[in-house]
Parts: sequence; structure tokens; C-alpha cells
Amino acid sequence: MLIRTHTCGELRDSHVGQTIRLNGWVNSYRDHGNLVFIDLRDRFGITQLVFDPDDGADAAMMAAADKLRNEDVVAIEGKVRVRIGGENPKLASGKIEIAVTTLRVLSKTDNPPFLPDDMGKLPSEEFRMAYRYIDLRRPRMQQILALRHKVYQSTRRYFDENGFLEVETPILYKSTPEGAREFLVPSRHVAGTFYALPQSPQLFKQILMISGCDRYMQICRCFRDEDPRADRQAEFTQIDLEMSFVRREQVMEMMEGFVRRLWKEVAGVDVPPMLRMTYREAMEDYGIDRPDLRYDLKIRDISEFAGKVDFAIFKNALDKGNDRPPFNSKRGVVKAVRVPGGAEKLTRKITDGYTEFVKGFGAGGVAVVKCIKGEDGQPKLDTGIAKFLEPHSQEFRTLLGVEPGDTVLFVADTYATATKAIGELRQKVARDMGLVPKPGAEGGPWKFLWVVDFPMFERNKETGKWVAMHHPFTSPRDDQMQAFLDAGEDDEVTIEGIVSAGYDIVLNGQEIAGGSVRIHDRDVQSKVFRLLGLTPEQAKEKFSFLLEALSYGAPPHAGVAFGLDRLVMNFAGTENIRDVIAFPKTQTGADLMTKAPSHVPDNQLTDVHIKSIAPATPGSPG
Ligand code: AMO
Repeated sequence: MLIRTHTCGELRDSHVGQTIRLNGWVNSYRDHGNLVFIDLRDRFGITQLVFDPDDGADAAMMAAADKLRNEDVVAIEGKVRVRIGGENPKLASGKIEIAVTTLRVLSKTDNPPFLPDDMGKLPSEEFRMAYRYIDLRRPRMQQILALRHKVYQSTRRYFDENGFLEVETPILYKSTPEGAREFLVPSRHVAGTFYALPQSPQLFKQILMISGCDRYMQICRCFRDEDPRADRQAEFTQIDLEMSFVRREQVMEMMEGFVRRLWKEVAGVDVPPMLRMTYREAMEDYGIDRPDLRYDLKIRDISEFAGKVDFAIFKNALDKGNDRPPFNSKRGVVKAVRVPGGAEKLTRKITDGYTEFVKGFGAGGVAVVKCIKGEDGQPKLDTGIAKFLEPHSQEFRTLLGVEPGDTVLFVADTYATATKAIGELRQKVARDMGLVPKPGAEGGPWKFLWVVDFPMFERNKETGKWVAMHHPFTSPRDDQMQAFLDAGEDDEVTIEGIVSAGYDIVLNGQEIAGGSVRIHDRDVQSKVFRLLGLTPEQAKEKFSFLLEALSYGAPPHAGVAFGLDRLVMNFAGTENIRDVIAFPKTQTGADLMTKAPSHVPDNQLTDVHIKSIAPATPGSPG
């Protein structure tokens, strides 16, 4: 088949005069009367071929060339020559062309459903997913696959150099409540029993520490039966890590080293030492536990000041009382965000829309005030709730540093509702103000942040039960351990105040990694299970292997997992996780190419002791 001597991205003017062979796809076809030009494409690039009757192409070959169409797969032999029609500076091989002397068509294509051309208009994503093999031929997708490969390699090198062992853990696992809904796989051998696909290898990596593995890494697939979102898939990849005989600091240092190395090797970027912020600071200042620090727009709690303002909405909110620990706020709050330049950019129509927006998060609305320059040249509050604030104008402006040209937005509600609503609003305002760089604008700026000191537990709003904020295997922070052990199980106030040894890495407002120091003491672990409402029988049934392992020599250990897909999204400058996964799933979990999930014949179900209660679909087997 004319095995290639070079790839389509390789030939330069230094090759002129050589006889070479190339294999690839016909990327474009141009017939210039007596000459036929083909751009031949493979993963490595594009090279121009020319069928020239004056330079090696006989009549039969000209006729064959004439029949070539986009996406045909061909092999050619020919001579490298300087481009007769002039250089194409857009191509690395743009100085040369190949005068073809032999042509073999390796695979003739039917009319392709679309062309893998980044320049042209692409069909819908769903259509492209159904023909993923064509979509993946696009140079952009090839570039992302290569980026992802680079991330794997860089990761393995770093952790190998640092003494981590790569270990594979099972995919057929046991059902354990770790948060999300699980994918189940029925067992054929024991009727009525199921494996679950792992949400993460959390307990295996802890067991590996107890096994003396010391440092573990794995690039592993995780499965969570949640609805996919822009940066979430039901099946995704983690870089999973665990270390023995360490505390929080050593893990954070190791992981920062990894981030620095990765960004240097993949993006050529030097990452400065990462900021740290406590969960509480993040919630207070940004209303979210993963703040985007590419823009400022800090949130301020102005409850004390608001108490003086004769404005019913503030008053009502402040009187609402507390709806939530962990910070023991005893009243409602008024929170404000000052938007420099907002007076002009945030039109009435936009700020009116904010009320609808925050309603989605349970808040009643958004109050607005602008600051303009008065006729006397002095700052003056204007529109919205200006008349209520006017008596306290000076104090208000000093409190928030308000200047002419600013808009201030307020949300007044209970602590949790106001915090959530204004945190979301802050992000929306940043987008409306054009403060959020488009992804891919040189990838940056990269604003990394450690968020630490999360509460151990929070109350589930629906059930009122404690849930672990990280996961149930996260340890209290070292200095909190005694208080945790001493706390009575009904001592709400102490328990809600216990801070965990968990940590997240946030990049530009996205959680890219999360981890913690683990509990390595059986009694502490049992107490956490009890607090989470597991009876001793349930704890035994679900986690006896862990509790047992903890009693046979467990080293102190800690770890973390990075969302690999999210790392690649950042490098690729895309907001769509499906762009960075070779074969992703749709919003409803479908693989449109293979058409998974699919019905299976009844006998296959019988083998695994299952009877479907789903209504039969026309055309489905069995
Ligand atoms: P966690 O659940 O925080 O921690 O997950 C770690 C990281 O994985 C990424 N991630 C996801 N990426 C894409 N789609 C999803 N559905 C998805 N869910 C999570 C995020 C997240 O930061 N076992 C613990 C880790 C540990 O404690 O060591 C765990 O899985 O980037």
C-alpha cells in the first residue's frame, strides 16, 4: 500500500528533490484544468499534492486524480518540489508540494455527512457526536487529544519522580453511599446482588495506604449517575492520589508542585504560589466556595448599616432570623456588591433581570442604587433605592467606597439564601460587565486558589440530617480532633463548628481538585458514621472492610483527586467538557455513535436475574 516515509506535517524545503511516500485523507480538492491539487491530511498536518502531466502524472493517473473526493484515504509516491504557485505561509509545509508519481486509493469514501473543517460552519454537536470519528478528524479535536495525552504523560512523570506507584483499582465495586447516584451492574452468580461502578477509588486508595503502598496514583475513570452539565459528565476521569505519613501541608505542597509542573509543560506558564482562603472567607467575600478571582467584585455584609435604613425590605430580611448554621448567624442579612462602572453598563433592563435571576436561588429580589456626579460636582445616589439611602449617603458611600459611576446591588434575606443569591449574582454581573475573559484568550489569567477549613458537616435541607461536606472519610483538622471526640452527638453547636482537614483547588471559579487528610482511627471513623445516621449494623454492612482495615495498622494518610477533564478544558480553552473527551455522552447520558444505552434481549436479563418493568419499546428485542 505504499507505506509512508513521512507524515503530512513533516516535509520542508530541505526535502526538495527527494522521492517520498505519504498516506492520509483528502482534505480538499482543486482542479485547475491541466493540474489537480490535493491537500493531504493526517494528524500531523497537511501537505499539498499536485498531479502534473509535465512532472510524473500520466493520463491514467490524471483520470484517477480527477475522481478523488474529500475524505478518500490515499497513498502516494512523488517528488518534493518547491511550490510552483508560491508559498502558503499558513502551512508548516507551505513552501513545498509533492509532484505525485504513483497514486493508490486505500479507501473510497461515501459522501461524508459533514467535513472535518474547523473553518467552515459545523453541524450541531449532536450530529457530530453521532459521527464522532469524523468530528475527531478536525485539527482542533486532534489538538485537544494531543493536549490530553500531554497531561497524562506529564502527570505520570511528575508522580513517578516523586515516588508514587500507579495502581489500578476495580471498576466492579461495591455500592457505597458517597454522594451521587450510582451505576449498578447485576451479578450473574448471586441473584439479586449488584456491583456498583466506583464514584471514585476513595476507599481502595486508603486501603492501599494501609497496605503499605505509601504513595499511590492512578488516572482513573469515575462514574456518577448525575445529570451532565457543561463541566460534568457521568463518566469522567480523575488523577487520583494518596500519600502516607503526611499531614495537610505535605499534600498541598506536593500538589502545588504538580500544578506548577503541569502548567509549565503543557501551557508554558509559570504558576505563582497559590493563594489560600478559608471556606468561611470564600463564602463571606464571594458567596461561593469556589470563587473566581479573575475579577474583584467583593461582597460585603452591610447588615449593621442596613439596620439603620428605613427600607422595609431590609428590615424584613433582618428580622427573618437564622436559617442555617454553620456560622451561627442569628439574623437575616443584607449583602451588597459594588460594581465599578456599573452605572453606565448595567442598564435598567439588565438590573431588572437580576431580580428574576436571584429568585431562582430563593431570594426575593435585588435592590439597586447608582452613584452619579450631582450638579454640584459631588457624588449623588440616584435611582433604585436612592431615596431610602439618601439620609445616610455619606456613611454608605464611605462604607463601600462608592464613587460616581458605580452601581451597588443588594440582596436581603436569611444568611444562606442571601449568600447563595448574591454569590451567583456576582458571577452574572461579572459576565455582564465583560470582566470574564473568554476561555482560550491565551488561557489566562490563571487564578488558582486553595480553599481550606471546610466545615466537617452540614445539614441536608430536605432531611435535616448531617451530611459530610467532603466525604465521610475526611478527618477533622488536627487541632479540632479533641473537640470532635469530646462532642456529644446531640451537641449541635460544637458539631456544626468542627472544621475538617479538607482542601480544594479552585481555578478561575472552577473546582479542579478536592481532597483531605483521612481518618485513620477506627473510633473516629465510627463516630463520623454514627453522626451521619448510620447504625452500627449499617456501618458494618457498608464499610466493615474499612473499619477492619483501620484496626490492623493504618498509617496517617491524605490525598486528593484532580478532575482531569477539567484540567484539559482549561488548557484547550473550552467551556464544554464534551470537547475534551474522545467519546463523550449527551445531557441524557447517551452515546450517540454506538447508541448506548440500549435494550438487551430478555434472556440476557434472565441470566442476571432481572426482569425489566420498562414498557416495551417498538422494535426492541425481546
Ligand atoms: P471529588 O468528588 O471532589 O473528590 O472529585 C475530585 C475532582 O473530580 C472532578 N469531578 C468531575 N469532573 C467531571 N465530571 C464530574 N461529574 C465530576 N465530579 C468531580 C472535580 C473534582 O474536584 N475521592 C475524592 C477525592 C479525595 O478526597 O481524594 C473525590 O472524588 O474536578
